[in-house]
Amino acid sequence: MMLRTIQVRLPAIRDRAYAIQIAPGLFARVPQLLVRQWKSAVFHIIADSTVSRLYGGALRRAVQRLGAKALLYEFPAGEESKCQAVADALHTALLTEQIRRQDLVVALGGGVTGDLAGYVAATILRGVQFVQVPTTLLSQVDSSVGGKVGIDHPLGKNLVGAFHQPRAVFVDPHLLGTLPLRQFRSGVAEILKIALALDGRLYRDMERHVHRLNPGKEDFLAGVISRAISLKAAVVTKDGFESGLRKSLNLGHTIGHAVEAASSYSLLHGEAVAIGMACEARLSRELGLMTEEETRRLLTLLKKVGLPTTIPRSIERGAVRKALQLDKKGEGAVIKFVLPAGAGRCAIGMTVPDHILAEVV
Ligand SMILES: NC(=O)c1ccc[n+]([C@@H]2O[C@H](COP(=O)([O-])OP(=O)(O)OC[C@H]3O[C@@H](n4cnc5c(N)ncnc54)[C@H](O)[C@@H]3O)[C@@H](O)[C@H]2O)c1
Ligand SMILES: [Zn+2]
Repeated sequence: MMLRTIQVRLPAIRDRAYAIQIAPGLFARVPQLLVRQWKSAVFHIIADSTVSRLYGGALRRAVQRLGAKALLYEFPAGEESKCQAVADALHTALLTEQIRRQDLVVALGGGVTGDLAGYVAATILRGVQFVQVPTTLLSQVDSSVGGKVGIDHPLGKNLVGAFHQPRAVFVDPHLLGTLPLRQFRSGVAEILKIALALDGRLYRDMERHVHRLNPGKEDFLAGVISRAISLKAAVVTKDGFESGLRKSLNLGHTIGHAVEAASSYSLLHGEAVAIGMACEARLSRELGLMTEEETRRLLTLLKKVGLPTTIPRSIERGAVRKALQLDKKGEGAVIKFVLPAGAGRCAIGMTVPDHILAEVV
């Protein structure tokens, strides 16, 4: 098994460096790795209903076969579970099982599970350690890196939470074999985003081998995933909190978030980001940041992956514009964009004249 390891060292918590390990087939070795490193811990595995059925039972049994105690907690799959009521229920279940500070929470699942289980781990007993075993492409390249954990609030998504770094992250592309194709492609959109913003070489690799961007090509995927993770880790390490370089990760997201909200979340996040990238590339073309050719290449790549490049007819343009007006991030009256400026480059803090924005959206 070819194992890739990425060390994440956050400046503020140097003693808390942790490793992200990536390899096809790594999941089978996770029980051993856990039991070896956390000798006296009880393992509290948290998974949604779908992932619990596919992988949760197997993980729990494998840990138990090694002589350790493992418990499995299940919550209903879906974004709706990223809420205070489910967090409360998990707190109650963990306390009922008398979780101790030396125990370990294992977040097994997609971004919803990582955010929710991470939040529960951050808050129970004022914080217990946790590890991530991300099972969606989006969570493998994005949400499991950076330490943001949290839940949604009736007033908005991701409004309640904390920074709580995992002690380890185990990434196995083999787990993506059971993921619905739409979910898989949504994850590819986030990888494309980071490549377009920061890494021309990764971008061209994805362009050249676009047919290998599928769940069956585990070795190719492992390479692409680890590159994307390294980039995100480098960005969050340079400035762990919301500023500077980290803003480049918002490429495609200003318009993406607006389209996602206007679709009442019928679009997956990655699909909305793909539309956001395509629209923002058109803005870049209008502003002279990208050539016609570069813009066309991006649109072709998105289409080949099977991602949308235009706002679906079913979504009201007015709703998108309204959502965009809300997306000002408190910086006065103008919207600040992160715009693509060719493969691997982006321009931060860009403003766009209203008539160009109106034309593209
Ligand atoms: N913390 C961060 O930095 C960060 C970054 C980006 C996104 N997020 C959050 O991530 C969430 C989205 O994550 P997601 O897209 O992974 O959603 P998700 O966790 O809901 O997973 C999507 C669906 O796939 C299923 N699934 C997961 N793994 C599977 C597998 N291997 N096989 C079959 N089915 C599987 C799940 O049960 C679920 O129904 C959002 O809540 C978002 O806010 C967080
Ligand atoms: Zn995103």
